[in-house]
Amino acid sequence: MHYLKIVGGKKLEGNIEISGAKNAALPLLASTLLSKNSVTLQNMPNVEDIKTFIQLLKNLGAVCEFENNVAKIDTNSINSTCANYDIVRKMRASILTLGPILTRFGHCEVSLPGGCAIGQRPIDLHLKALELMGANIKIKEGYVLATAEDGLKGANIVFDKITVTGSENIIMAAVLAHGTTVLSNVAKEPEVVQLCEVLVSGGAKINGIGTDELIIEGSRGKLLNFSNAYVIPDRIEAGTYLCAGAITNSEITLKNVEVDHLKAIIAKLTSMGFSFEKNSKCLTIKPSQKILPADIETVEYPGFPTDMQAQFMALTTQANGVSVIDEKLFENRFMHVSELSRMGADIKLTSHTATVFGPTKLTGADVMATDLRASSALVLAALVAKGTTKIHRIYHLDRGYENLEGKLKALGVDIERLNE
Ligand code: UD1
Repeated sequence: MHYLKIVGGKKLEGNIEISGAKNAALPLLASTLLSKNSVTLQNMPNVEDIKTFIQLLKNLGAVCEFENNVAKIDTNSINSTCANYDIVRKMRASILTLGPILTRFGHCEVSLPGGCAIGQRPIDLHLKALELMGANIKIKEGYVLATAEDGLKGANIVFDKITVTGSENIIMAAVLAHGTTVLSNVAKEPEVVQLCEVLVSGGAKINGIGTDELIIEGSRGKLLNFSNAYVIPDRIEAGTYLCAGAITNSEITLKNVEVDHLKAIIAKLTSMGFSFEKNSKCLTIKPSQKILPADIETVEYPGFPTDMQAQFMALTTQANGVSVIDEKLFENRFMHVSELSRMGADIKLTSHTATVFGPTKLTGADVMATDLRASSALVLAALVAKGTTKIHRIYHLDRGYENLEGKLKALGVDIERLNE
């Protein structure tokens, strides 16, 4: 197993390229199950979750290649409809195969994902929506067994809660269904929008893209006709590096960003005293005279993303004053608190609210990564900690950050990946 060794205390400078968005690339990989063509996906991040999803498609019988950030997927040779436990337990997003496989083949078997480090994360809303579309769903021996022998039917569906992968699953199911589906309270994340746009490029009929109500006219089983897509930049990776600039109070530039997708993150950093220079696909963060505290509430897009909560918690340890962070989406997404505390952070946790008392002088320590974004918070803390920090279990980071050490090294960070 690898760990990261970071010697803190350096100012950062320079520029780095942001990779394609993992959370956009995953549903696009799933969408290839709806295409009659081989599909080429460009700007794919070279991260473990993407490799796992490609392995899942291979297990189903698809022919896949993944090289130089380009994936070529041909699902014509699919000969299995089962996403088994071994792969689903590695990556919850495997559930994204349920909608497309069921709508295309009339049945699908997917292992139930179970809980994870950040909370329970049920899939009841995915299943309820598919039942409204006529699917027969049974849970047996840890698997969801879904059938719809005559195909799924259009339905009126109102999601009780906004769910990102739930919306994506049902959008993909509805695209090949019989009749019209009206989806209300749909997620508006840029990753959901990109999925819709790619499906439309292949002939899907979707109205209302980017709003919370989608009207989808099903193709009655006819496969789509798209053969390529270019994955949007990763707004969470970009946000994480903005926090790296912010926590070290340095000027750095990110290339290949979609500034529009970063509004909530930029607004929060601006309120903390940082300023920005924006220019086409580049974004420069400039130091703050005095880092100010922040009140943060995680909500659905376009609000402040839960996937940036941990990184901002690391940052607020360096703010001059008290910050309050309210996690609204995942009940257990505070695993990083105890690790940050081991580095000297002063954080009080009550239920789903963390109060961070800053500024504190952090010191290097041995810490443990617990989930993807919690791990990046530890990396950020290490950048300003006095001495050496060793971050263990970094396979969590490898799930979602492409070439993290290389990018941080390019900014001047003293960082090494070593064997335990
Ligand atoms: C996606 C993202 C993840 C991000 C999250 C919230 C991917 C691959 N992952 O996860 O990085 O943190 O959105 O922005 O895109 N819920 C239910 N029942 C369901 C589904 C969800 O109660 O059937 C609840 C969840 O427990 C959570 C909330 O709805 O409290 C939002 O979850 P959801 O948007 O579904 O998260 P994911 O799609 O799993």
